[in-house]
Amino acid sequence: MAYQMPPQGYGMPPQGYPQQGYPPQGYQQMPPQGYQQMPPQGYPQQGYPPQQMMQPPPQQQQQGSWKDQLALPPRDERYRTEDVTATKGNEFEDYFLKRELLMGIFEKGFERPSPIQEESIPIALTGRDILARAKNGTGKTAAFTIPVLEKTDTSKNVIQAVLLVPTRELALQTSQVCKELGKHLNVQVMVTTGGTSLKDDIMRLHQPVHIVVATPGRLVDLASKGVAKLNQCTMLAMDEADKLLSPEFQPVIAQLIDFLPRNRQILLYSATFPVTVKSFKEKYLRKPFVINLMEELTLKGITQYYAFVEEKQKVHCLNTLFSKLQINQSIIFCNSVNRVELLAKKITELGYSCFYIHAKMMQSHRNRVFHDFRNGACRNLVSSDLFTRGIDIQSVNVVINFDFPKNSETYLHRVGRSGRFGHLGISVNLITYDDRFNLFRIEKELGTEIQQIPPTIDPAVYCR
Ligand SMILES: Nc1ncnc2c1ncn2[C@@H]1O[C@H](COP(=O)(O)OP(=O)(O)OP(=O)(O)O)[C@@H](O)[C@H]1O
Ligand SMILES: [Mg+2]
Repeated sequence: MAYQMPPQGYGMPPQGYPQQGYPPQGYQQMPPQGYQQMPPQGYPQQGYPPQQMMQPPPQQQQQGSWKDQLALPPRDERYRTEDVTATKGNEFEDYFLKRELLMGIFEKGFERPSPIQEESIPIALTGRDILARAKNGTGKTAAFTIPVLEKTDTSKNVIQAVLLVPTRELALQTSQVCKELGKHLNVQVMVTTGGTSLKDDIMRLHQPVHIVVATPGRLVDLASKGVAKLNQCTMLAMDEADKLLSPEFQPVIAQLIDFLPRNRQILLYSATFPVTVKSFKEKYLRKPFVINLMEELTLKGITQYYAFVEEKQKVHCLNTLFSKLQINQSIIFCNSVNRVELLAKKITELGYSCFYIHAKMMQSHRNRVFHDFRNGACRNLVSSDLFTRGIDIQSVNVVINFDFPKNSETYLHRVGRSGRFGHLGISVNLITYDDRFNLFRIEKELGTEIQQIPPTIDPAVYCR
């Protein structure tokens, strides 16, 4: 079964939330067909559609400073928690960034740096290695992308920075952020991942490229062939660094670092840093500046619930959740590819629209699901752990663990798909008898409270 296309004129797009500034260019491989783009209503959208952008009056454009000429998106007026508001009060202008970069930052709707950006940007600008830990959705991407963009010299036609991420979808998302922030800089950003034509990538590398956003395997491939020349690439940012340093990726990462010059700067970011990172740190980082903004691990904006169920009651329970919750958009996680497909089928049979995504699907199909879900074409997405890390969809306010994860890192990252940038959200965990010890262990490891789900949940908890 192909994933479920939304019915024509699908009447319930996510409402009340700003859309991502996600222009289709360079990303959307296949134009979404068969559904009308219905932007969320009654709420300012970020950078979409362009007509809604607030243009200053013409006289101001002529006389005012550069700031008056910015095409700012409407402000996101939703409630935000201290996870992003408890800053030192820095301004982006405090960092002496190029004006063109500041323009990109403000036009992306960023008003001032988040806590991780305050800690990270000035240090990264000095060229020092960084190992940074900060909560999900608090702006780590821009924390490394802004200094990388600042330090990139577009007059030099060489690859100067690599931004590495563990999944293809995250690579697409990160390259988009990089392009948006660098919109006025003339910077050439290339995204390269597995699952796409190697030949196209080779052709692309004949054109100027300053920053490469990549998954590790493909980049090593291109570097080994001598096509991607990394000998002047002095910046390497590794997002979801603990995942990139897990046994699955580590050998490829070691190979990749061998292509970089000795004077490289390495920036590591994640919300979770288990001990596995220690040996990498000792081997490759030079007096890294360590940032750890996480006294508590879970987001303040997310309320977590569990419901004890038997395996065979799970679908029924999900049906009840769908009828009771005010879902703006939801991500429902399963622990295997097979279960993702089975559940998506069941949800469709129940009469709810849903998409599904996992790593065994064709890449073009994955891209389309990601693109369409992000644009609000469908309310629910069933996913494997492919979407556990880094994926940033602002209108997701509900995460459901249909299958409970086995470790606390996976739990934390999954739950962090809602409550982006200090917004509110809930997570609901379906717990079977076999999961009970994992539930208690994860709760303990994260020092957090997962409450038994009450008969009704006040929308104020996750819909403000
Ligand atoms: N300074 C800022 N002002 C306003 N919004 C911001 C700012 N910085 C980042 N954001 C927005 O916050 C959201 C989350 O950012 P990002 O994806 O970088 O978080 P993250 O820390 O990488 O999360 P994760 O750990 O889940 O990967 C994005 O939609 C981003 O555009
Ligand atoms: Mg991230």
